Amino acid sequence: MCGITGFTGKVPALPILLKGLESLEYRGYDSAGVTLVTEDALFTQKRKGRLADLESSMDVPSFMQTTGIGHTRWATHGVPSQLNSHPHTNEKETISIVHNGIIENYQSIKEKLIALGYVFQSDTDSEVIVHLLDHYYQGDMMEAIQKTVQQLNGSYAICVVTTDHPDEVYVAKDSSPMVIGHSENGSYCASDIPAILEYTKDVVILEDGQMAKLTPNGVAVFDFAGNALETKVTHIPYDMNAAQKGGYTTFMEKEIYEQPVAIKETMRGIIDHGQIHLPQLDAVDMQKIQYVHFVACGTAYHACLYAQALVQKWLGRIVTCVAASEFRYGNYPVNENTLCVFVTQSGETADTLAALKMSKEKGAQCIAVTNVLGSSISRYADQTLYTSAGPEIAVASTKAFTTQLVLLTLMVFDLAKKEGREIPDGDAILKDLQRMPEIVKEMLEKAPLMDQYAYFLDNQYDAYFIGRQMDYVGVVEGALKLKEISYVHADAYLAGELKHGSIALIEKDTVVVALATEPSVAAKTISNIEETVARGANVILITTQQQDAPGFKNVIRIPDIHPVLATIPVTVLLQLFAYYAAVHKGRDVDKPRNLAKSVTVE
Ligand code: F6R
Repeated sequence: MCGITGFTGKVPALPILLKGLESLEYRGYDSAGVTLVTEDALFTQKRKGRLADLESSMDVPSFMQTTGIGHTRWATHGVPSQLNSHPHTNEKETISIVHNGIIENYQSIKEKLIALGYVFQSDTDSEVIVHLLDHYYQGDMMEAIQKTVQQLNGSYAICVVTTDHPDEVYVAKDSSPMVIGHSENGSYCASDIPAILEYTKDVVILEDGQMAKLTPNGVAVFDFAGNALETKVTHIPYDMNAAQKGGYTTFMEKEIYEQPVAIKETMRGIIDHGQIHLPQLDAVDMQKIQYVHFVACGTAYHACLYAQALVQKWLGRIVTCVAASEFRYGNYPVNENTLCVFVTQSGETADTLAALKMSKEKGAQCIAVTNVLGSSISRYADQTLYTSAGPEIAVASTKAFTTQLVLLTLMVFDLAKKEGREIPDGDAILKDLQRMPEIVKEMLEKAPLMDQYAYFLDNQYDAYFIGRQMDYVGVVEGALKLKEISYVHADAYLAGELKHGSIALIEKDTVVVALATEPSVAAKTISNIEETVARGANVILITTQQQDAPGFKNVIRIPDIHPVLATIPVTVLLQLFAYYAAVHKGRDVDKPRNLAKSVTVE
């Protein structure tokens, strides 16, 4: 989720590149850089830290070059540092590139390039691109790009400049975004619309497998075979503020809709021909492990509840799930025979970090699951697994959570393999996991329905979420999401526990959100729901295609999917429900009161 800008035209490029990067700053980044081009030389300046630091390190008005590329980096391979920052250049300093995405096969390409004599400056996957271009370049950069992209597996949007053609910028993309545009001053490219919106509202949104050549006079689009294509122009009707949110009203809404892509990116490179491999777990000796603890806070803690349920089902180990704020103070068995997994979107949550430090001191094997490369947790953990959700800006966690569920499922699969255990229905579960981006898309299409159901809360102060077994993960997460952004009081209960006290709260029109997606207990949950209906509850039921639900008015059926994975589509529905409830109540959805995105105090 890096930011890219590029320009070639009749005016100095640097202010345009920096301003474009500034408009992408809201998404978060750890380093920034630019390359400016003349026929004599490339000038590259990059550094770890803020864009403002980069800018103040340059005397901007003195740079008159009219072609250049810029980048803000959100680290995926290689920690945030000066050397890992983009742009990357070839040894002769005649070609410079910026990249957004992940090159899955970079290791094998790197080995081949090293054998050819190429010297690498960084730990990034991206650097292979510039050396491949150098290797293939014989005067025609479009041809070199065509040959280079044939070698790449993964996702990429790349932007290239060379001293040989100092008034040209080249771009190519597959699975990462790239837009281009033109105005009387020149041609622009960027990883996202806000970066060029000030110059033109008519943009070409490149499709996968397309490349383009930008010159001061215009843009030309080609396929990867070099055939010229018709440029399809899209008029952007919204302003900069809306553009930063991708045309959505809030970051939370945007992030909810980014989930199909985030899930796809998180799985990328992990499942190969039905086999899972997470090299970060290679050092975990399952024969030694007696206890597994999942530790986290808030929404990440709910992801841990899910992982705990999977370990209970599939591994022969004692497993707990503990809130990080409690873990240090409880007397949990933590020693060299313990595997501790710490889950945190930000990688900076103080309670989670403290729990990790304590576990390390006691000799446990510590694995982190986080969304932010180079975050504190990744520095302390023995190994780190990354969700590839991209920057999450809204305070309420959405895409980070569903990607955590996906990654934790893959992790438990890998641990089971180490234990030599066969997961029941393992192949079917993996197939469904690979279909998950499509399934989540189907759920997003139900947004109007969830919007309508959210009106049930208009005159209500409370809502109750109920479910059994793995549906309990969905209910706790659904209730938390509703509370934190709409301020409607919401409680989550095990459906079977309701009759032991909490049912006293149910009265006419009380909103009950019931999950019954686990076939083995769905009928029992339905009986519990009927008990609430008998007391006047207004029930929204989320269940499977097959489940009998006679007499219920508000039923949403999730697509056919293995029950252990149902939490993912269900969560998407509940995120939408909470979102619309908050919108109807006029709440500040992205910045709910009293909350911070990253809780760095205990
Ligand atoms: C809720 C939410 C919080 C976080 C929690 C942990 O939507 O976002 O509950 O999940 O503060 O944060 P991380 O995952 O950054 O450790």
